[in-house]
Amino acid sequence: MQEFSFSTRIFFGEGALERLRRVKNRKVFIVTDRFMVQIGAIDRVISYLTECEVSVFDGVVPDPPIEVVAEGVNAFEKCQAETVIAVGGGSTIDAAKAIRAIAKKILNIETDKMECFAVPTTSGTGSEVTDYAVITDKAQGVKYPLDSQALRPPVAILDPSLTASAPASVTADAGMDVLTHALEAYVSTNANDFSDAMCEKAISLVFRFLPLAYIDGEDLLARTEMQNASCMAGLAFNSAGLGINHSLAHAIGGKFHIAHGRINAMLLPKILAFNANLSCVSGGEYSLAAKKYQRIARIMDFPAATVRLGVANLIQEIEHLNHKLRIPSTLRELGVDMVQVREMRQELITTALADATYATNPRRADETAVGNLIDQVTG
Ligand SMILES: NC(=O)c1ccc[n+]([C@@H]2O[C@H](COP(=O)([O-])OP(=O)(O)OC[C@H]3O[C@@H](n4cnc5c(N)ncnc54)[C@H](O)[C@@H]3O)[C@@H](O)[C@H]2O)c1
Ligand SMILES: [Fe+2]
Repeated sequence: MQEFSFSTRIFFGEGALERLRRVKNRKVFIVTDRFMVQIGAIDRVISYLTECEVSVFDGVVPDPPIEVVAEGVNAFEKCQAETVIAVGGGSTIDAAKAIRAIAKKILNIETDKMECFAVPTTSGTGSEVTDYAVITDKAQGVKYPLDSQALRPPVAILDPSLTASAPASVTADAGMDVLTHALEAYVSTNANDFSDAMCEKAISLVFRFLPLAYIDGEDLLARTEMQNASCMAGLAFNSAGLGINHSLAHAIGGKFHIAHGRINAMLLPKILAFNANLSCVSGGEYSLAAKKYQRIARIMDFPAATVRLGVANLIQEIEHLNHKLRIPSTLRELGVDMVQVREMRQELITTALADATYATNPRRADETAVGNLIDQVTG
Protein backbone atom coordinates (compact mmCIF):
# COMPACT_ATOMS: atom_id res chain seq x y z
CA MET A 1 0.00 0.00 0.00
CA GLN A 2 1.22 3.49 -0.82
CA GLU A 3 -0.02 6.94 0.05
CA PHE A 4 -0.27 10.17 -1.86
CA SER A 5 -1.67 13.02 0.16
CA PHE A 6 -2.72 16.56 -0.63
CA SER A 7 -3.44 17.54 2.96
CA THR A 8 -1.73 20.94 2.74
CA ARG A 9 -4.09 23.62 1.44
CA ILE A 10 -2.17 25.43 -1.29
CA PHE A 11 -2.92 29.05 -2.22
CA PHE A 12 -0.88 29.98 -5.27
CA GLY A 13 -0.30 32.62 -7.90
CA GLU A 14 -0.05 36.39 -7.81
CA GLY A 15 -2.01 37.79 -4.89
CA ALA A 16 -1.86 34.55 -2.84
CA LEU A 17 -0.72 36.57 0.19
CA GLU A 18 -4.29 37.91 0.37
CA ARG A 19 -5.16 34.65 2.16
CA LEU A 20 -3.44 36.13 5.25
CA ARG A 21 -6.17 38.79 5.54
CA ARG A 22 -8.29 36.10 7.19
CA VAL A 23 -5.83 36.03 10.12
CA LYS A 24 -7.52 38.42 12.58
CA ASN A 25 -7.03 39.32 16.24
CA ARG A 26 -4.38 36.68 16.81
CA LYS A 27 -1.01 36.43 18.50
CA VAL A 28 1.20 35.66 15.52
CA PHE A 29 4.73 34.22 15.60
CA ILE A 30 6.71 34.86 12.38
CA VAL A 31 9.80 32.75 11.74
CA THR A 32 12.26 34.21 9.23
CA ASP A 33 15.83 35.44 8.71
CA ARG A 34 17.32 38.90 9.11
CA PHE A 35 17.66 39.42 5.38
CA MET A 36 13.92 38.97 4.81
CA VAL A 37 13.29 41.65 7.46
CA GLN A 38 15.85 44.02 5.88
CA ILE A 39 14.36 43.79 2.39
CA GLY A 40 10.88 44.58 3.72
CA ALA A 41 9.32 41.15 3.01
CA ILE A 42 8.19 40.76 6.63
CA ASP A 43 6.56 44.22 6.76
CA ARG A 44 4.70 43.22 3.62
CA VAL A 45 3.46 40.00 5.20
CA ILE A 46 2.47 41.84 8.40
CA SER A 47 0.49 44.39 6.36
CA TYR A 48 -1.97 41.61 5.45
CA LEU A 49 -2.65 40.64 9.08
CA THR A 50 -5.61 42.33 10.76
CA GLU A 51 -5.28 43.60 14.34
CA CYS A 52 -2.73 40.95 15.26
CA GLU A 53 -0.03 41.03 17.92
CA VAL A 54 3.05 40.01 15.95
CA SER A 55 6.40 38.65 17.26
CA VAL A 56 9.18 38.14 14.75
CA PHE A 57 11.93 35.57 15.28
CA ASP A 58 14.53 36.44 12.64
CA GLY A 59 17.37 34.20 13.81
CA VAL A 60 17.25 31.59 11.02
CA VAL A 61 20.45 31.02 9.01
CA PRO A 62 20.96 28.77 5.95
CA ASP A 63 21.05 25.08 6.89
CA PRO A 64 19.60 25.85 10.32
CA PRO A 65 21.58 24.40 13.22
CA ILE A 66 20.09 22.88 16.37
CA GLU A 67 21.03 26.02 18.37
CA VAL A 68 18.85 28.23 16.16
CA VAL A 69 15.90 25.88 16.61
CA ALA A 70 16.40 26.05 20.40
CA GLU A 71 16.43 29.89 20.30
CA GLY A 72 13.27 29.78 18.21
CA VAL A 73 11.53 27.53 20.75
CA ASN A 74 12.35 30.06 23.52
CA ALA A 75 11.00 32.96 21.47
CA PHE A 76 7.90 30.93 20.59
CA GLU A 77 7.21 30.17 24.27
CA LYS A 78 7.55 33.85 25.25
CA CYS A 79 5.02 35.13 22.74
CA GLN A 80 2.29 32.52 23.43
CA ALA A 81 1.46 32.39 19.75
CA GLU A 82 -1.84 31.20 18.32
CA THR A 83 -0.65 31.34 14.70
CA VAL A 84 2.77 30.52 13.18
CA ILE A 85 3.91 31.92 9.83
CA ALA A 86 7.24 30.82 8.32
CA VAL A 87 8.47 33.27 5.65
CA GLY A 88 11.66 32.32 3.83
CA GLY A 89 13.50 29.60 1.98
CA GLY A 90 13.67 25.93 2.87
CA SER A 91 15.95 26.72 5.81
CA THR A 92 13.32 28.95 7.41
CA ILE A 93 10.40 26.62 6.76
CA ASP A 94 12.40 23.67 8.11
CA ALA A 95 13.41 25.65 11.21
CA ALA A 96 9.76 26.59 11.84
CA LYS A 97 8.71 22.95 11.48
CA ALA A 98 11.35 21.88 14.00
CA ILE A 99 10.39 24.70 16.41
CA ARG A 100 6.75 23.58 16.30
CA ALA A 101 7.65 19.92 16.83
CA ILE A 102 10.03 20.60 19.74
CA ALA A 103 7.66 23.07 21.41
CA LYS A 104 5.00 20.37 21.38
CA LYS A 105 7.37 17.81 22.85
CA ILE A 106 9.06 19.83 25.59
CA LEU A 107 6.55 22.59 26.34
CA ASN A 108 3.42 20.46 25.90
CA ILE A 109 1.87 23.07 23.61
CA GLU A 110 -0.64 21.63 21.12
CA THR A 111 1.26 23.10 18.19
CA ASP A 112 -0.19 20.59 15.72
CA LYS A 113 -3.65 22.07 16.26
CA MET A 114 -2.44 25.62 15.63
CA GLU A 115 -3.02 27.72 12.55
CA CYS A 116 0.28 27.47 10.59
CA PHE A 117 1.37 28.89 7.27
CA ALA A 118 4.45 28.12 5.19
CA VAL A 119 5.29 31.00 2.86
CA PRO A 120 8.26 30.07 0.64
CA THR A 121 10.48 32.79 -0.79
CA THR A 122 12.61 30.39 -2.86
CA SER A 123 11.41 27.80 -5.37
CA GLY A 124 13.42 24.79 -4.34
CA THR A 125 12.78 22.54 -1.40
CA GLY A 126 9.00 22.05 -1.57
CA SER A 127 9.22 22.10 2.25
CA GLU A 128 5.83 23.86 2.34
CA VAL A 129 4.14 20.50 1.59
CA THR A 130 6.56 17.87 2.93
CA ASP A 131 6.94 15.89 6.13
CA TYR A 132 10.67 16.66 6.29
CA ALA A 133 12.85 19.22 8.01
CA VAL A 134 16.62 19.19 7.61
CA ILE A 135 18.51 20.35 10.70
CA THR A 136 22.31 20.63 10.80
CA ASP A 137 24.76 19.71 13.53
CA LYS A 138 27.38 22.33 12.65
CA ALA A 139 30.03 20.93 15.01
CA GLN A 140 29.89 17.49 13.37
CA GLY A 141 29.09 18.84 9.90
CA VAL A 142 26.14 16.44 9.65
CA LYS A 143 22.62 17.10 8.30
CA TYR A 144 19.73 15.31 9.98
CA PRO A 145 16.49 14.94 8.04
CA LEU A 146 13.56 14.82 10.52
CA ASP A 147 10.59 12.93 9.09
CA SER A 148 7.09 12.99 10.53
CA GLN A 149 3.65 13.69 9.14
CA ALA A 150 3.19 16.09 12.07
CA LEU A 151 5.76 18.38 10.40
CA ARG A 152 3.65 18.90 7.27
CA PRO A 153 2.43 22.52 7.09
CA PRO A 154 -1.40 22.77 7.00
CA VAL A 155 -1.39 25.80 4.67
CA ALA A 156 1.10 26.88 2.00
CA ILE A 157 1.03 30.31 0.37
CA LEU A 158 2.93 30.49 -2.92
CA ASP A 159 3.07 34.15 -3.87
CA PRO A 160 5.60 34.58 -6.70
CA SER A 161 6.22 38.24 -5.84
CA LEU A 162 8.09 37.08 -2.72
CA THR A 163 10.61 35.12 -4.80
CA ALA A 164 11.39 38.02 -7.17
CA SER A 165 14.12 39.36 -4.87
CA ALA A 166 16.05 36.06 -4.78
CA PRO A 167 19.52 36.59 -6.31
CA ALA A 168 20.35 34.63 -9.46
CA SER A 169 22.60 32.14 -7.64
CA VAL A 170 19.85 31.30 -5.09
CA THR A 171 17.35 30.95 -7.96
CA ALA A 172 19.72 28.59 -9.78
CA ASP A 173 20.57 26.42 -6.77
CA ALA A 174 16.99 26.15 -5.53
CA GLY A 175 15.70 25.48 -9.06
CA MET A 176 18.13 22.61 -9.53
CA ASP A 177 16.98 21.21 -6.17
CA VAL A 178 13.48 21.03 -7.73
CA LEU A 179 14.82 19.13 -10.76
CA THR A 180 16.72 16.75 -8.47
CA HIS A 181 13.62 16.08 -6.34
CA ALA A 182 11.54 15.33 -9.41
CA LEU A 183 14.12 13.12 -11.14
CA GLU A 184 14.86 11.18 -7.94
CA ALA A 185 11.19 10.66 -7.06
CA TYR A 186 10.50 9.60 -10.67
CA VAL A 187 12.87 6.61 -10.54
CA SER A 188 12.55 5.90 -6.81
CA THR A 189 11.59 2.39 -5.72
CA ASN A 190 8.39 3.94 -4.29
CA ALA A 191 7.44 5.89 -7.44
CA ASN A 192 3.74 5.65 -8.27
CA ASP A 193 1.28 7.03 -10.81
CA PHE A 194 0.46 10.06 -8.67
CA SER A 195 4.08 11.01 -7.97
CA ASP A 196 5.06 10.33 -11.61
CA ALA A 197 2.42 12.80 -12.83
CA MET A 198 3.77 15.50 -10.50
CA CYS A 199 7.36 14.75 -11.52
CA GLU A 200 6.70 14.90 -15.25
CA LYS A 201 5.02 18.30 -14.92
CA ALA A 202 7.64 19.66 -12.52
CA ILE A 203 10.53 18.58 -14.77
CA SER A 204 9.07 20.20 -17.87
CA LEU A 205 8.37 23.43 -15.94
CA VAL A 206 11.96 23.57 -14.64
CA PHE A 207 13.55 23.06 -18.08
CA ARG A 208 11.33 25.77 -19.52
CA PHE A 209 11.14 28.39 -16.76
CA LEU A 210 14.30 28.09 -14.63
CA PRO A 211 16.55 29.74 -17.25
CA LEU A 212 13.99 32.57 -17.58
CA ALA A 213 13.73 33.15 -13.81
CA TYR A 214 17.54 33.06 -13.63
CA ILE A 215 18.00 35.68 -16.36
CA ASP A 216 15.23 37.97 -15.13
CA GLY A 217 14.21 37.60 -11.50
CA GLU A 218 11.27 39.96 -12.05
CA ASP A 219 9.69 37.64 -14.63
CA LEU A 220 6.61 36.80 -12.57
CA LEU A 221 5.33 34.14 -14.96
CA ALA A 222 8.64 32.26 -14.67
CA ARG A 223 8.61 32.78 -10.88
CA THR A 224 5.03 31.48 -10.64
CA GLU A 225 5.79 28.37 -12.68
CA MET A 226 8.94 27.66 -10.67
CA GLN A 227 6.97 27.92 -7.41
CA ASN A 228 4.40 25.49 -8.77
CA ALA A 229 7.15 23.14 -9.97
CA SER A 230 8.86 23.25 -6.58
CA CYS A 231 5.62 22.46 -4.77
CA MET A 232 4.72 19.61 -7.18
CA ALA A 233 8.16 18.06 -6.82
CA GLY A 234 7.72 18.33 -3.03
CA LEU A 235 4.38 16.52 -3.21
CA ALA A 236 6.01 13.83 -5.38
CA PHE A 237 8.99 13.09 -3.17
CA ASN A 238 6.89 13.26 -0.04
CA SER A 239 5.13 10.18 -1.39
CA ALA A 240 7.84 8.45 -3.45
CA GLY A 241 11.02 9.35 -1.57
CA LEU A 242 14.35 10.50 -2.97
CA GLY A 243 17.63 8.70 -3.67
CA ILE A 244 21.40 8.65 -3.51
CA ASN A 245 21.75 12.12 -5.07
CA HIS A 246 20.32 13.57 -1.87
CA SER A 247 22.26 11.12 0.35
CA LEU A 248 25.52 12.36 -1.17
CA ALA A 249 24.38 15.99 -1.20
CA HIS A 250 23.61 15.84 2.53
CA ALA A 251 26.99 14.21 3.27
CA ILE A 252 29.14 16.48 1.05
CA GLY A 253 27.10 19.67 1.58
CA GLY A 254 27.15 19.21 5.37
CA LYS A 255 30.96 18.83 5.47
CA PHE A 256 31.96 21.50 2.96
CA HIS A 257 29.10 24.00 3.50
CA ILE A 258 27.87 23.98 -0.09
CA ALA A 259 24.32 25.19 -0.84
CA HIS A 260 21.99 22.19 -0.94
CA GLY A 261 20.69 22.79 -4.46
CA ARG A 262 24.17 23.49 -5.83
CA ILE A 263 25.69 20.21 -4.67
CA ASN A 264 22.57 18.36 -5.86
CA ALA A 265 22.98 19.95 -9.30
CA MET A 266 26.66 19.03 -9.49
CA LEU A 267 25.87 15.40 -8.65
CA LEU A 268 22.78 15.03 -10.84
CA PRO A 269 24.33 14.07 -14.23
CA LYS A 270 26.63 11.56 -12.50
CA ILE A 271 23.76 9.99 -10.55
CA LEU A 272 21.63 9.63 -13.70
CA ALA A 273 24.48 7.74 -15.38
CA PHE A 274 24.90 5.54 -12.29
CA ASN A 275 21.19 4.73 -11.96
CA ALA A 276 20.73 4.12 -15.71
CA ASN A 277 23.63 1.64 -15.54
CA LEU A 278 23.89 1.39 -19.33
CA SER A 279 27.27 -0.37 -19.32
CA CYS A 280 25.73 -3.46 -17.71
CA VAL A 281 23.02 -3.97 -20.31
CA SER A 282 23.02 -7.32 -22.07
CA GLY A 283 20.44 -8.39 -24.64
CA GLY A 284 18.65 -5.03 -24.56
CA GLU A 285 17.31 -5.33 -20.98
CA TYR A 286 17.56 -1.83 -19.64
CA SER A 287 16.92 -0.84 -16.05
CA LEU A 288 13.53 0.68 -15.24
CA ALA A 289 15.36 3.90 -14.28
CA ALA A 290 16.98 4.07 -17.74
CA LYS A 291 13.59 3.56 -19.42
CA LYS A 292 12.02 6.25 -17.28
CA TYR A 293 14.83 8.70 -18.10
CA GLN A 294 14.13 7.97 -21.78
CA ARG A 295 10.45 8.76 -21.15
CA ILE A 296 11.42 12.14 -19.66
CA ALA A 297 13.69 12.83 -22.64
CA ARG A 298 10.72 12.12 -24.95
CA ILE A 299 8.40 14.39 -22.96
CA MET A 300 11.02 17.11 -23.25
CA ASP A 301 11.46 16.51 -27.00
CA PHE A 302 15.14 15.62 -26.57
CA PRO A 303 16.29 13.02 -29.15
CA ALA A 304 15.39 9.65 -27.56
CA ALA A 305 14.83 7.06 -30.28
CA THR A 306 16.57 4.46 -28.08
CA VAL A 307 16.95 4.19 -24.31
CA ARG A 308 20.67 4.83 -24.64
CA LEU A 309 20.11 7.99 -26.68
CA GLY A 310 17.36 9.24 -24.37
CA VAL A 311 19.51 8.82 -21.26
CA ALA A 312 22.56 10.42 -22.92
CA ASN A 313 20.57 13.42 -24.12
CA LEU A 314 18.81 13.95 -20.80
CA ILE A 315 22.19 13.95 -19.05
CA GLN A 316 23.59 16.35 -21.64
CA GLU A 317 20.64 18.74 -21.24
CA ILE A 318 21.13 18.78 -17.45
CA GLU A 319 24.81 19.59 -18.00
CA HIS A 320 23.80 22.42 -20.37
CA LEU A 321 21.35 23.75 -17.82
CA ASN A 322 24.03 23.69 -15.09
CA HIS A 323 26.35 25.52 -17.47
CA LYS A 324 23.73 28.18 -18.24
CA LEU A 325 23.18 28.64 -14.50
CA ARG A 326 26.96 28.92 -13.89
CA ILE A 327 26.98 25.89 -11.61
CA PRO A 328 30.40 24.19 -11.64
CA SER A 329 30.55 20.46 -12.30
CA THR A 330 33.19 19.51 -9.71
CA LEU A 331 34.26 20.36 -6.17
CA ARG A 332 37.68 21.27 -7.59
CA GLU A 333 36.07 23.92 -9.82
CA LEU A 334 34.11 25.16 -6.82
CA GLY A 335 37.39 25.74 -4.97
CA VAL A 336 36.98 23.07 -2.28
CA ASP A 337 40.24 21.96 -0.60
CA MET A 338 41.20 18.70 -2.38
CA VAL A 339 43.31 17.48 0.55
CA GLN A 340 40.28 17.72 2.85
CA VAL A 341 38.10 15.85 0.36
CA ARG A 342 40.64 13.02 0.20
CA GLU A 343 40.90 12.90 3.99
CA MET A 344 37.14 12.76 4.43
CA ARG A 345 36.39 10.36 1.57
CA GLN A 346 35.62 7.34 3.76
CA GLU A 347 33.53 9.40 6.17
CA LEU A 348 31.51 10.79 3.26
CA ILE A 349 30.86 7.27 1.96
CA THR A 350 29.65 6.06 5.36
CA THR A 351 27.46 9.14 5.95
CA ALA A 352 25.89 8.93 2.49
CA LEU A 353 25.02 5.24 2.85
CA ALA A 354 23.49 5.89 6.29
CA ASP A 355 21.31 8.77 4.99
CA ALA A 356 17.59 7.95 5.01
CA THR A 357 17.12 9.09 1.40
CA TYR A 358 19.33 6.26 0.08
CA ALA A 359 16.66 3.64 0.91
CA THR A 360 14.54 4.37 -2.17
CA ASN A 361 17.35 4.72 -4.72
CA PRO A 362 16.64 2.43 -7.70
CA ARG A 363 20.16 0.97 -7.80
CA ARG A 364 22.05 -0.43 -4.80
CA ALA A 365 25.47 1.09 -4.26
CA ASP A 366 28.30 -0.49 -2.29
CA GLU A 367 31.15 1.51 -0.77
CA THR A 368 33.22 1.27 -3.96
CA ALA A 369 30.37 2.64 -6.09
CA VAL A 370 29.72 5.53 -3.69
CA GLY A 371 33.47 6.25 -3.61
CA ASN A 372 33.47 6.40 -7.42
CA LEU A 373 30.60 8.89 -7.40
CA ILE A 374 32.47 11.05 -4.86
CA ASP A 375 35.61 10.90 -7.05
CA GLN A 376 33.58 11.98 -10.10
CA VAL A 377 32.13 15.03 -8.37
CA THR A 378 35.53 15.82 -6.81
CA GLY A 379 37.12 16.20 -10.26
N1 LIG B 1 12.18 20.05 4.10
C1 LIG B 1 12.46 19.53 2.94
O1 LIG B 1 11.69 18.73 2.41
C2 LIG B 1 13.76 19.91 2.27
C3 LIG B 1 14.03 19.44 0.97
C4 LIG B 1 15.23 19.84 0.37
C5 LIG B 1 16.11 20.67 1.06
N2 LIG B 1 15.83 21.09 2.32
C6 LIG B 1 16.74 22.00 3.09
O2 LIG B 1 16.40 23.35 2.79
C7 LIG B 1 17.56 24.19 2.88
C8 LIG B 1 17.79 24.96 1.60
O3 LIG B 1 16.70 25.82 1.36
P1 LIG B 1 16.69 26.87 0.14
O4 LIG B 1 17.37 26.26 -1.03
O5 LIG B 1 15.30 27.33 -0.03
O6 LIG B 1 17.66 28.03 0.62
P2 LIG B 1 17.75 28.80 2.02
O7 LIG B 1 16.44 28.82 2.72
O8 LIG B 1 18.91 28.24 2.79
O9 LIG B 1 18.07 30.28 1.56
C9 LIG B 1 19.31 30.57 0.90
C10 LIG B 1 19.60 32.07 0.98
O10 LIG B 1 18.69 32.77 0.16
C11 LIG B 1 18.13 33.87 0.86
N3 LIG B 1 16.79 34.10 0.34
C12 LIG B 1 15.73 33.26 0.43
N4 LIG B 1 14.67 33.79 -0.22
C13 LIG B 1 15.07 34.99 -0.71
C14 LIG B 1 14.41 36.03 -1.46
N5 LIG B 1 13.15 35.92 -1.89
N6 LIG B 1 15.13 37.13 -1.75
C15 LIG B 1 16.42 37.26 -1.37
N7 LIG B 1 17.09 36.31 -0.67
C16 LIG B 1 16.43 35.19 -0.35
C17 LIG B 1 18.16 33.47 2.33
O11 LIG B 1 18.19 34.60 3.16
C18 LIG B 1 19.46 32.66 2.39
O12 LIG B 1 20.55 33.50 2.63
C19 LIG B 1 18.73 23.24 3.18
O13 LIG B 1 18.99 23.23 4.57
C20 LIG B 1 18.21 21.89 2.71
O14 LIG B 1 18.86 20.82 3.35
C21 LIG B 1 14.66 20.74 2.91
FE1 LIG C 1 16.52 18.79 -1.85
